[in-house]
Parts: sequence; structure tokens; C-alpha cells
Amino acid sequence: MTRHLTIAIDGPAASGKGTLARRLAAHYGLRHLDTGLTYRGVAKALLDAGLPLDNEGTAEKAARALDLATLDRSVLSAHGVAEAASKVAVMPAVREVLVDKQRAFAAAPPGAVLDGRDIGTVVCPDAMVKLYVIASPEVRATRRWREIEAGGGTADYAGILADIKRRDARDTERAASPLRPAEDAHLLDTSEMDIETAFRAARAIIDGKLGLRSED
Ligand code: DC
Repeated sequence: MTRHLTIAIDGPAASGKGTLARRLAAHYGLRHLDTGLTYRGVAKALLDAGLPLDNEGTAEKAARALDLATLDRSVLSAHGVAEAASKVAVMPAVREVLVDKQRAFAAAPPGAVLDGRDIGTVVCPDAMVKLYVIASPEVRATRRWREIEAGGGTADYAGILADIKRRDARDTERAASPLRPAEDAHLLDTSEMDIETAFRAARAIIDGKLGLRSED
């Protein structure tokens, strides 16, 4: 079997890993999957059908029915969907089904960048490059706050910060595939970096791993 290039990117909510993953995929000519959308997709399907969020068998069925090609970020980014997603993401049966789909995505040519919480540890433990992207909770809250304000909304910084800390706790403390860096992951702390600097730093790590020279 030919192994395609896989880049695994993990990190907490609002660490900038999604933007980084998208830009890296475009740069290296790879496909991109935001695996958070797969958990959100299952949650949205249950919400739309009026089904309970706490029944593992029902959620597993929704996971089996999910088509990764139909995931729409604009629909799935709603706060209510995120809350519901964090409930189905703790269910081992749901994770098993979605991880299989995520692995199939990674295995297809020409290769892929996957971002999430457990890509380097569970989904693609053999990924050629693994990045673990972090930033302090305060920096992440400020980024979220600026995003919302830039979009014309009004945001409450303290509320955003509390939400980020709550999600961190839920992601790192859950029993099934908790958020943690793989042993061979490169740590990228973007607290003091803008997206351009983070993109350059990530490329330097990846090019080094691939034996390429970065252009700058
Ligand atoms: O990154 P996000 O907010 O879109 O993720 C939605 C939910 O799915 C969140 O509760 C974390 C969870 N998730 C996960 O458990 N494993 C992943 N690989 C990606 C997301």
C-alpha cells in the first residue's frame, strides 16, 4: 500500500490550528479535514431529527450515516452545535465510527492534513509530521473576541475565557481519547505569533521533517 503524506495537527479550541491546517494543506497540495466538524455533523443530525444527545446507540447510527463530503462549516459553527458535539464526542462508539472515516480520508491520495484533538495519538499515529499547537487561554480568548467584534458582533471577554477554560478541561479530562500531545509531536506555541509567523514556523518544522528547504 502506498502511504501518502499525512500531517496531524492537534491542539485546544481556538489555538489557531484550523487556520494553520487549511493554509498548510493549500501550501503542500493536500486535502484538509477539520475532524471537529465530524463530531459537529453527528450532533447536528441528532438535533435536526429531534433525537436525544445522550443515547450512544442512536448517536453511533448517526455517525455511520454521516457523509464527510457534506460537512458545512457555516452551518456547523453554531454554539448550540458545539455544545452538542462535545456530548457525542465522549462516546467511544461514536469515536470508533468517526475515526474509521477520518482514517479513510487520510489514506486517500494525494494525502491530507487533519486537525483535531487525537490525530497524532489515535487517528494517524503514523503521520509523517505531527504538530501540537497551543496558546495561552487568555490569548485564545482575545483572538475569539476580536473575531466576533470584527464580524460586527459584541462579545464578552470574560465569558469567552471561561468557555475556553471549560472546553479545555472537558477535552483533556475525558476518558476517551483525551487531548494530549503525541510523544513525537512538535510543540508550536503561537501565544506570541500572528498567523503568518505561525505558518512559517510550521512550514520550517514540516520541511525539516520532509528533508526540504524552506524558501524563507
Ligand atoms: O474543534 P471543535 O470545536 O470543532 O470540536 C467539536 C467537538 O468535538 C469538541 O467537543 C471536541 C471534539 N473533538 C474531538 O473529540 N476529537 C477531535 N478529533 C475533534 C474534535
